[in-house]
Amino acid sequence: MRMVDLIEKKRDGQELSTEEIKFIINGYTDGSIPDYQISALTMAIYFKGMTEKERADLTMAMVESGDQIDLSQIKGIKVDKHSTGGVGDTTTLVLGPLVAAVGVPIAKMSGRGLGHTGGTIDKLEAVKGFHVEIENEEFIDLVNTNKIAVIGQSGNLTPADKKLYALRDVTATVDSIPLIASSIMSKKIAAGADAIVLDVKTGAGAFMKTLDDSRDLAKAMVRIGNNVGRRTMAVISDMSQPLGYAIGNALEVKEAIDTLKGEGPEDLTELCLTLGSHMVYLAEKASSLEEARHKLENAIKDGSALEKFKVFLSSQGGDSSIVDNPSNMPQAKYTFELEAKEDGYVAEIVADEVGTAAMILGAGRATKESTIDLAVGLVLRKKIGDQVKKGDSLVTIYSNFEKVDEVKQKLYENIKITAEKIEAPILIHGEITE
Ligand code: URA
Ligand code: CA
Repeated sequence: MRMVDLIEKKRDGQELSTEEIKFIINGYTDGSIPDYQISALTMAIYFKGMTEKERADLTMAMVESGDQIDLSQIKGIKVDKHSTGGVGDTTTLVLGPLVAAVGVPIAKMSGRGLGHTGGTIDKLEAVKGFHVEIENEEFIDLVNTNKIAVIGQSGNLTPADKKLYALRDVTATVDSIPLIASSIMSKKIAAGADAIVLDVKTGAGAFMKTLDDSRDLAKAMVRIGNNVGRRTMAVISDMSQPLGYAIGNALEVKEAIDTLKGEGPEDLTELCLTLGSHMVYLAEKASSLEEARHKLENAIKDGSALEKFKVFLSSQGGDSSIVDNPSNMPQAKYTFELEAKEDGYVAEIVADEVGTAAMILGAGRATKESTIDLAVGLVLRKKIGDQVKKGDSLVTIYSNFEKVDEVKQKLYENIKITAEKIEAPILIHGEITE
């Protein structure tokens, strides 16, 4: 097989075979096919697209390019959740203990945050002593005992995707639905889940800015999952503004605790109940979505979800006293209020820019090498549609810097207030099951 012929084939809009896709991915992973040929191929894919069969083949070739996590020793149907990336997205912290409390095994592999999005591991490290550097065997034991554990990302998961994503980033080929869908799905499948619930974000703060694109991406991923034998569904949720109120590590852990107590933000609670219901249903712990939701609501009411969070933290070395006393987590030295400059209604809270403001405070990483400050971040006091009076606080800024002028300016530029009444955005835009 010659790579040049395969580039030509895709350029002319023909379908690549399973063997051809394997040849390409194996050759790229072992270095025998150079970047420039893969660049030409991804550009051809960008313009010509991929068939459903090619997408499934590409996904599985990337899965097989590295380690695959074997979760077969865990009892029950392992359901994983994946979000396409949000700002202040505290759902994983809430969903893990919440669905584990009703018996769904959660074997989560998580990463760290970069840029305006946060990572679950960073958030959990706001809990003193908590660590994710555990052996596979211990990980599996913990899931069997407690129904929940989190482990750090394995170094050699989908190396083909790592290389390909980095190349796409510098060749203007990230924005291709078949390439995005297979990239995301390859990582989920290699991580070993039997079933996958996807949270595809849409809106200004999301990877996909329009509802049509988000729906197309969701459909593409759901098809890939189901075609390779993993039951997969997607919820399309709003990211035109940050989810919940808190953005920042310890602040989001506190928000997760509030939510597990039934006292959390309405949007975060609703999204967790929606995603969670699908997880419980796919794990066959309920025979309908209604029953699943009812079980989750009960786990919040009777305290078992909160209790599960404590057990989860202490099993991985974490100080579970923070659940009853969140002030045992790192605290910022200073707080500042961002005061509204006029009366009106909040019309816009540009999620990625607000995420960047939190990053400037030190809550996120500008580069992979940056260290983060677990204590700092932002708590929104108003959301889109809320009425404000001049002088009201729009945001509380938690900082270890004495001066936050740059952050304030960024927030003022990205929180728009208008005179006319604005409706709160719809949270759930749709669900894709096939
Ligand atoms: N996120 C991924 O993991 N892969 C893509 O291609 C795009 C977003
Ligand atoms: Ca939040």
